Amino acid sequence: MIVVKGPASPVLSGRVADAMGVSPLQLEYKVFPDGETYIRFPESVAGEEVAVIQSCYPPQNKNLIDLLFIVDAAREMGAKRIAVVVPYFAYARQDDAYRNGEAVSARTIARLVEAAGASTFLTVDMPSNKALRFFTIHSENLTCMRIIGEYLRTLSLRNPHVLAPDDGAIPLAETVSATLGTEYAWFEKTRDKVTGSVSTSSKDVDLRGRDAIIVDDVISTGKTIANTTQIAKKQGARTVTAACAHLLLTGDAEQTLRSAGVDQVFGTDSIETGPGSHPVSIAPVLAEALKKTW
Ligand code: R5P
Repeated sequence: MIVVKGPASPVLSGRVADAMGVSPLQLEYKVFPDGETYIRFPESVAGEEVAVIQSCYPPQNKNLIDLLFIVDAAREMGAKRIAVVVPYFAYARQDDAYRNGEAVSARTIARLVEAAGASTFLTVDMPSNKALRFFTIHSENLTCMRIIGEYLRTLSLRNPHVLAPDDGAIPLAETVSATLGTEYAWFEKTRDKVTGSVSTSSKDVDLRGRDAIIVDDVISTGKTIANTTQIAKKQGARTVTAACAHLLLTGDAEQTLRSAGVDQVFGTDSIETGPGSHPVSIAPVLAEALKKTW
């Protein structure tokens, strides 16, 4: 198998290639003065099984277009099969028309990826599996929560208690709490469909003297984690650690988290640029899935 280094995921693809015992393929890549990108495979992948690893975090439109260029070029060269690995699947949140007339962006992206030549699609901790229905090829939503749990274990937290900030994060909290051997609880979150503002209602969870861990798939504006942190601190949490698969931290998210009292926050190498700490690698999860796929 050839592991192609997507320009948005050079570090992660190198780690996946290492885990699989193959050398990663470095593409020729340049950006023209007007912002358009040029991509070239330096060697043929005809007849090969190819895995393209490209996380589509912001600037997501550019990263998506680059992904499509790479997959299409590999197909045109005669690649035998192409696994498209997109740890952060941009536009996955709009997986249905929740208001009349909405563009279902996850569907559009799925169609484009498939039309470009993907044989398999792998992503990681997408908010829900709903978007997978748009693929006719084999597609999977993997989770990195076990390795996040293993990393949390090294932090020596005191009597930790895991919290899911909404019901969508319950499976993530289940996995992390099982890895840590502790309990979990979840809060209820509502999001205004028009403004996007979130409100969280508390539940009776006794966190006195305990270190709370909030887990989520994505931290973007930080408001979901901030709301949950405020409740956790009112309920006695000694510290709050926020952990996620995709640490985007858009706008003034870091300030939002600090003001709410979050003590530490981290994500994974799904995101390679921008603010925040990304100490956990999802490479073992991707390598294992790729080995199983082919
Ligand atoms: C959706 O509900 C997701 O699971 C996350 O909770 C959400 O995307 C986080 O976004 P933000 O950090 O902007 O609150």
